[in-house]
Amino acid sequence: MSGTGKAIRVLLVDDSYLVRQSVKAMLEFESGEFEVVGEAENGLQAVAEAARLVPDVVLMDINMPEMDGISATAKIMEQHPIGVVIISVQGEQDYLRRAMKAGARDYLVKPFTCEELVGALRSAAVSGPNPLAAAPVAAPKRQGKVITVFSTKGGVGKTTMVANLAAGLAGGGKTTVAAVDLDLEFGTLATMMGVRPQATIVDLCRLHTTITPDHLGRVLARQQTSGVGVLAAPPLPHLASEVDGDGRADRSRAYVVEIIEALRATHDFVVIDTSVSFRECNLIAFDKSDLILMVTQPEITALESTAKGLDVLLDRLEYPRDKVQTVLNRCDNIVGLSHEDIANSLGVPLTYLIPSDPQACVVAANTGVPMVLKRVKGSPITDALSRMATQVAGGGKEVATAVPALKPAAGGSPAPVRRLFGFF
Ligand SMILES: Nc1ncnc2c1ncn2[C@@H]1O[C@H](COP(=O)(O)OP(=O)(O)OP(=O)(O)O)[C@@H](O)[C@H]1O
Ligand SMILES: [Mg+2]
Repeated sequence: MSGTGKAIRVLLVDDSYLVRQSVKAMLEFESGEFEVVGEAENGLQAVAEAARLVPDVVLMDINMPEMDGISATAKIMEQHPIGVVIISVQGEQDYLRRAMKAGARDYLVKPFTCEELVGALRSAAVSGPNPLAAAPVAAPKRQGKVITVFSTKGGVGKTTMVANLAAGLAGGGKTTVAAVDLDLEFGTLATMMGVRPQATIVDLCRLHTTITPDHLGRVLARQQTSGVGVLAAPPLPHLASEVDGDGRADRSRAYVVEIIEALRATHDFVVIDTSVSFRECNLIAFDKSDLILMVTQPEITALESTAKGLDVLLDRLEYPRDKVQTVLNRCDNIVGLSHEDIANSLGVPLTYLIPSDPQACVVAANTGVPMVLKRVKGSPITDALSRMATQVAGGGKEVATAVPALKPAAGGSPAPVRRLFGFF
């Protein structure tokens, strides 16, 4: 232990004396980077010690007498929000979501290596509590519907869907719609919507006060034809960390949560574009969403990763089935697979089928006018996109394919992927 005052101050919580000793031994290798300032052997002690010592980070076991680690984490977040790293044994991974929701920043499965331990503690000490837990709980006055468009493979058409869905939902100004680009590093939504933003999401994250609907008015770029307000991605990739990463001006604030809440308080619909990842802003968007649209295309690598993504959303994050719908883009580019085969392989029905039309898509992107706004008569892609917007607005009950006979296996196994390979 260094005693230099610069060391990361750790509170160690585990009912096993042996585990505490071995963690201490691992940390002592790190020549003064960490200082174990306290120990606790149950959740109640952990809460008391966290309040007394105010450490930089807490390493917290889950299963303990008196009070378990998840409840203790939640209590610590109420009193003194700090970075918590949960430790657990193999097979308890289902606790991941609960631990994160309680405010834990990271999760280590025993046995873990010295490097894993040091990495998790270091980053939790820097980033502080999980912003999902720090979310304001007060319900805003208006609760616009939040729709997140996601995919597990790039280039399948997320941004095309967002632009057309937002413009379609706006219905010529009858409904208020905001479109948000959470593809924070390489977002193209503003271009696709034909707006030139004066400010972007990163400007909102530089405000020193909670983001309010008032602030949004100054940052949203209005698309003339549809009236959709576009919140653009940062102008440069490295600025993404100011929104949901270590570059945040105030690490105790969840800017993405504040933004979504402020938008839904002032708009009927908030449509969110994403990047291909489970980075924090996407997880927040999923959590805040009424509907997640998973976009894919009829091609084996896209379908394979879509099945994995659906596993995460439905089995790991445990979102209700009707919160997640599927969009099969380029649905007519089918070689050797029927739509029913695809639905069976994914384990969920295909909700929306959008045909391919490279020319219409390129013209729309290059002119910044979404296809649904052009109302080209007899254009299958425009009709399909408009129908999708109408269905989403009305609750999206109909599905394009039958509900698959095969249900995905419980417990997070990627069984649907294997079924897909079985078709070939
Ligand atoms: N149905 C379609 N028919 C033909 N081309 C399409 C269709 N949908 C999208 N495209 C084209 O595919 C390309 C990728 O689309 P888009 O940018 O919407 O995908 P994305 O999933 O947002 O990509 P990224 O992962 O890079 O953000 C664009 O050139 C777009 O015009
Ligand atoms: Mg995109």
